[in-house]
Amino acid sequence: NKAVTIHTLAALRAAGEKITMLTCYDASFASLMERCGVEILLVGDSLGMVCAGHNSTLPVTVADMAYHTASVARGAKSAMIVADLPFGAYGTIETAYANAVLLMQAGAHMIKIEGGAWLAPTVRFLTERGIPICAHIGLTPQSVHQLGGYKVQGKSTESAEELKNDALALQEAGASIVVMEAIPTQLGREVTQALAIPTIGIGAGPYCSGQVLVMHDMLGVFPGRKARFVRNFMEGATSIDQAVIGYVRAVKDGSFPALEHCF
Ligand code: KIV
Ligand code: NA
Repeated sequence: NKAVTIHTLAALRAAGEKITMLTCYDASFASLMERCGVEILLVGDSLGMVCAGHNSTLPVTVADMAYHTASVARGAKSAMIVADLPFGAYGTIETAYANAVLLMQAGAHMIKIEGGAWLAPTVRFLTERGIPICAHIGLTPQSVHQLGGYKVQGKSTESAEELKNDALALQEAGASIVVMEAIPTQLGREVTQALAIPTIGIGAGPYCSGQVLVMHDMLGVFPGRKARFVRNFMEGATSIDQAVIGYVRAVKDGSFPALEHCF
């Protein structure tokens, strides 16, 4: 398989083909997901919840992220690897750069950070220094206490307008892709149409350029309450390979997310 690069993602968007992303935290699943056709492996800080058992992503450290990023990188040959900068790792531009370098050296090809237009200077600084950026807007779990819970974002006219402006500012600053989490379907569509770069949705409706889910959720492994935007792809599958192939197929043919997964 040819390596997935930022050009691959732009080409998929231009062709109207949906981009597939799943979270991944180890070498074995990296190899499995890649052979099943997943284009982007996200080493998400959700690993603090699904792997380490914390009740939020806040305790995750850069060292945790580097360990899991290196593990995924050893298992993947062609997929793009995106790694999250965790809570507290990008409060200033200098710390953002130093920590992003550590994750790139661990094997990431792109770094994801949570936040809106206030992050634009950070995005510019990192991209100018050779670090591609995936922005993450809408429900940003590292801000759970500031948001007052895991709630759908962008429901009011003002917050929807703000989210759209955030996306444009991050694109202008050099972001390669934008993850949008838990926002109304119509807003996901508007932002996707307003941007020239791909959007990846999780609970952001079917009109995004691609989709992402946490692997434990889509395999029915995580014991917590199932979020509205999750579909368990192990239902009807006889192997994990089949479930992941089913996810890739459902994203590509537009059958996931369905109305029942959207806000
Ligand atoms: O950490 C994570 O799993 C994520 C996705 C939910 C986008 O950031
Ligand atoms: Na994350």
